[in-house]
Order: sequence, then structure tokens, then C-alpha cells
Amino acid sequence: MSEVAKLMIDGKEFELPVVEGSQGEKAIDIRTLRQTTGYITFDPGFGSTGTCKSSITYMDGEKGILRYRGIPIEQLAEQSTFVETAFLLITGQLPTNDELTRTSVYLNDFSLLHENMKAFYQNYPSKAHPMGILSAMINAMRSFYPELIDLEEEMNKTYLRLISKIRTMAAMAYRISMGERVVYPRPDLCYCANFLNMMFDNAVIPYRMDDDIVKALNVFWILHADHEQNCSTTAVRVVGSGKVNIYSAISAGISALWGPLHGGANQAVINMLDAIHKKGLSVEQCIKKAKDKDDPFRLMGFGHRVYKTYDPRAKIMKKMCDLVLSKVKQDDPLLDIARKLEEKELEDSYFKDKNLYPNVDFYSGIVLRAMGIPTNMFTVMFAIGRLPGWIAQWKEDVADPEMKISRPRQVYTGAQLTDYIPIHKR
Ligand code: CMC
Repeated sequence: MSEVAKLMIDGKEFELPVVEGSQGEKAIDIRTLRQTTGYITFDPGFGSTGTCKSSITYMDGEKGILRYRGIPIEQLAEQSTFVETAFLLITGQLPTNDELTRTSVYLNDFSLLHENMKAFYQNYPSKAHPMGILSAMINAMRSFYPELIDLEEEMNKTYLRLISKIRTMAAMAYRISMGERVVYPRPDLCYCANFLNMMFDNAVIPYRMDDDIVKALNVFWILHADHEQNCSTTAVRVVGSGKVNIYSAISAGISALWGPLHGGANQAVINMLDAIHKKGLSVEQCIKKAKDKDDPFRLMGFGHRVYKTYDPRAKIMKKMCDLVLSKVKQDDPLLDIARKLEEKELEDSYFKDKNLYPNVDFYSGIVLRAMGIPTNMFTVMFAIGRLPGWIAQWKEDVADPEMKISRPRQVYTGAQLTDYIPIHKR
């Protein structure tokens, strides 16, 4: 007999079925709770709530495990490419040679932007944050590429169109914001090299492609490609559950990612390290501030809702940091501060007791800086990486017969029935 959970309310017993995942994770199925008991559950931030069944990403926050479609993140970071990992996430399988070639051909075919879209960039204020622009541009794709035919082959092209164009959009936003000419994608370059070339190629000093930097960018994007039901992915699923088109759902994900507690943390980490450097603060002062309950300051790049040990992505990112800095022959004073901060944080009982460890964003800003990516583009870099995950999760959601429009309940705490008072009597 399958397992059931028993719930006692006012001396009455209710049985609720238990759902079990492929790694033994268990959930109490409360879908009938309200109808049978009149009660709802209360879980702000969804820390104890499963919102879907998913076969894409597996995480164990206590053991520091992350796997895409069963494959450990460490193996993918070492041996795969971002495009291959994107294929894996979206289709569920690693591609054959033919499939990978076909994917690359489509990525090349779709890499240019509609010329009218370029006009958008020119009309944004020069200080506009590229995340806001990116979110608007992705939403606008629905109008420029309306042919969303519900056939598998056509939808696969839509996914690749998104993955290809987001990279062109991001590089274009940067070039226009710098007042520089736009560099178009080149069919002879792979996905990551193409992005670097669009960002940095220059008529005076042509961009010198370096295999290690291309590798580091592949790794950066692989590490960010999916992370199960995080804030932005939940936004994609929730918005998508209203059966809106995929572009609008992804655009919602980009907006959610922008926040400093989520994808915006990579920019916030650099701002924090920079402030420590410029103000000449000591690492100890910083730790003291982070522990002070009356001070809103938090150590950016530390802590995670799921990981209660070292984020496995942060370990890989730390190695990438050394590789990229040695390659560009740069000493970054912020790296020294980061290392000291990490060392002190890890030995401090406050952080130990709360299981606060460095997360992926702690070292990723330093890697991106060394590649020459400007700070306000960091979260855009995260968004490009997360796109295959959002697509895979959206695809899984719309195909799931159990999924319904997202519509949580609430515990109302407002006024009792109150009569309207006309303005002259108030
Ligand atoms: N610095 C100082 N204290 C912290 C920090 C931090 N970075 N993170 C959590 N805490 C404390 C927090 O004050 C709370 O203390 P208490 O129990 O005394 O009230 C306790 O730890 C639990 O924190 P929480 O905010 O309830 O935990 P959460 O799971 O809701 O938040 C988090 C997770 C990532 C938002 C949070 O750790 C944080 O704000 N970190 C800094 C921002 C950051 O680096 N974000 C990137 C996350 S990784 C990228 C991604 O996947 O999005």
C-alpha cells in the first residue's frame, strides 16, 4: 500500500497521499486539502512547498549536489559546452553529432535581429539598466516573430531563436550603450566565441580570441543553465501557466532574475567588494555589519535557500577565477578581499550556525570582470545562461497534464466588513 500522511484537525483525522520522487524525496499531496478540510497551507516563500513534478534538475542542498538530467554539474562543466548542455536540458538527452550540427546551423541562422528592433535600443535613456532592456526586448519578440506554431519542430526552432538572439541582444545593448558600432554575429564562431567577438571586437584593435576565456564562458553559462524551482524559474512557470506565449513568460523570468537577492547578486557582490576596497573597510568590520540584526547589510554572495553547504557551482567558479586571472595576467585587488572574506566567514560561528556558505555569485563577478564584462551586464550574463533552463521548465510545464493555472490562496488579515463613508462625511 502506498504511503499516506495523517493530519488531525479538531480531533478529526484526514489522510493525504504521499508522492515520491526518483531520488527518494517525499511530498504530501495536499491538492484536496481545502475541499476536504476547509484549511489551506501557509508557506511564504514556498520553502516547504513543491509546485510541480520535474525531471530536469536534481539538487541536494545538504550534500551540495547539482545534476542536469542526472549528469553531475562537475562533469558537464569539465567536458560539455553551453550549447550541448542547453540541448540536454531542453530535450532531455545529450545530442548526437548530427543533432549538434543542426542546432549550430539554426543558432547561426537565427542570430541576427530584426533591424526595427535595433531602434528600441537607440531610444532608451543612456543609463537604462540592460536587464530592463533585455526583458522588454524578449517580450517584443512575440510581435516580431509571431509564428509560434504548436508543432514540435517549429517550437524547437523558437527555443533556438531565443537562445541565439538573446546573445545578440545582450552584446548589442552593450555596444550601443558605449556609443560603439554594432558588431554582427559571425557564422564561423561558436556560441561563446561569437558573443565575446560581438562584445569586444574593434576596428582598431581586433578581439583576440583565447581558448581558455571561451572555455571559462562556457563553464560560466553551464553553471547557470538551470537551478530547479528558483525565483525566476517559478516566475516563468507561474506566468506561463496562464498560457501566455513563451516570450512573455521568459521576459517575466528576466525581470525576476534582476533582483539583488537572486541573479542581481553577482553585480551586488562586486559593488560590495568595491565599496570595501574604496572605503578601506576591513573584512572584520564587514562581517560584524552582516551579523548586526539592526543593520540591513548582508554579505552578498553568501547563503542560499537550498544549499546548506558549499554551493557546488561556487567551487567550480572559484577554479575558473584562477584560470581567467592567470590568463589575462591581471591582479584584482577585489579577489584578495573576496578570499579573505570567504576565509573569515567560513570560520565564524554565526555563519556556520546558519549554514551560510559562498554561492555561485560570489566568484562569478570576478571572473566576468576579468573577461572585460562591465558590471551592469553581469546579471544579463546570468540571464543568457539561465535561458535554456527557463525554456526546459516552461516546456515541461505546458506539457504536464497535472498543471493548472497558478493561483495560490491567502490568509486574509484585513478589516472586517466595513461600510463606505461618502467623502463629505469623513
Ligand atoms: N549575510 C548575512 N546574513 C544572512 C545572509 C547573508 N548573505 N543570508 C542569510 N542570512 C541570515 C538571515 O539574516 C537570517 O538570519 P535570522 O535567522 O537570524 O533571521 C538567516 O540567515 C536565514 O536567511 P533568510 O533570508 O531567511 O534565508 P532565505 O533562504 O530566505 O534567503 C538568500 C536566501 C540567498 C536570499 C539569502 O541568503 C541572501 O540574501 N543572500 C545574499 C544574496 C545572494 O547572494 N543571493 C544569491 C543567491 S545564489 C544565486 C541564485 O541562485 O539566485
